[in-house]
Amino acid sequence: MQKITRFAALVVAGLCLLGTQAQAKKFEHLAQTPPMGWNSWNNFGCDVDEKLIKEAADYMVSSGMKDAGYEYVNIDDCWHGERDANGFIQADPERFPSGIKALADYVHSKGLKFGIYSDAGWTTCGGKPGSRGYEFQDAQMYAKWGVDYLKYDWCATDGLKAEGAYQTMREAIHKAGRPMVFSICEWGDNQPWEWAKPIGHLWRTTGDIYNCFDCEYDHGTWSSWGVLQILDMQDDLRQYAGPGHWNDPDMMEVGNGMTEAEDRSHFSMWAMLAAPLIAGNDIRKMSEATRKILTNKAVIAVDQDEIGVQGFKYSSKNGVEVWFKPLANDEWAMAVLNRNKGEVKFEFKWRNEMVKDELTHRTITFNEQKFDWQDLWNKSNKGDTKKFLKTKIAGHDTLMFRLTPAKN
Ligand code: GLA
Repeated sequence: MQKITRFAALVVAGLCLLGTQAQAKKFEHLAQTPPMGWNSWNNFGCDVDEKLIKEAADYMVSSGMKDAGYEYVNIDDCWHGERDANGFIQADPERFPSGIKALADYVHSKGLKFGIYSDAGWTTCGGKPGSRGYEFQDAQMYAKWGVDYLKYDWCATDGLKAEGAYQTMREAIHKAGRPMVFSICEWGDNQPWEWAKPIGHLWRTTGDIYNCFDCEYDHGTWSSWGVLQILDMQDDLRQYAGPGHWNDPDMMEVGNGMTEAEDRSHFSMWAMLAAPLIAGNDIRKMSEATRKILTNKAVIAVDQDEIGVQGFKYSSKNGVEVWFKPLANDEWAMAVLNRNKGEVKFEFKWRNEMVKDELTHRTITFNEQKFDWQDLWNKSNKGDTKKFLKTKIAGHDTLMFRLTPAKN
């Protein structure tokens, strides 16, 4: 009798193991560099419709953003209507009269990809139907519509475990059979960097960004954060990021009202973090200054560098931070961020500096090795690391350089 019980237990264990092995994987080949695109939320909130999304796709092409590498056009919250009698989700018929499939087709016809938003809970953060209990049906619908990217939020999830909830949606996407970038948005509450690599392609590391450079916006039970506050929350996370699995410090506020210097700093630091570059402004009406920041290909190349290593803070003194990011082919990016409101003088005696990256074990000993540098915001400004760098940085502005090993 005992033998039979033990045999039965072994069979059950074996079946369980088989079950685990049969578990669906995420689509591994996606997001090999941080995803780039546009999302409706930061500027439009719930005020979304098909006209806006189509125009965003049009302007992504005509503004030069597509040419600079932006690819995804993503609707955030509030596109939803009701579920039909069989439980399938439908778009809001007034805001999206042509339906989501037609919209996705339109975005695809521009050579771009299309993203959508849902939530692991009963409702989305905007109070629309969430995917809880409908994960497989929803993923099937998204696949049918031609969705390429799913941002999956964390409102109304009381009693759910984040890892399991996101795993369920990963399974559902896999079952639906259409490769989709899976963007985990649980605000860093459950340390997704520790468990989300086999599940999603990016995960939010913080609460929501707020359109300011240096502030906290208190909503009562939660806060949104300025650019500097979010930047400071990225410490100690760099070892978790890499091709196919990125830390996401939230979508950008470039062009939403900060000063030009602040926008430049925001964009530079997101590139140093190898962050997803998802624009959040009204790209149909952006100023030339905003367009130039968002399409600076030299800065984008730092973000998109193929080795996918997140940068790190090298030094911090009197509100001026120096950051380094290892790039492919022994190159480096360097950023100098002035957190102060006023202009500062900045001197960098390269030959006294030694940079050591604990993660990649790469080092720069500037008194032994010469680099040529190029200023990525003012390309005519070039030099090498034999001479002192002596310059001024405007309040809240950032300098950014690319360092290339010198030939001689
Ligand atoms: C949460 C997310 C935001 C946005 C809103 C939509 O706050 O973190 O990025 O998607 O929900 O309601």
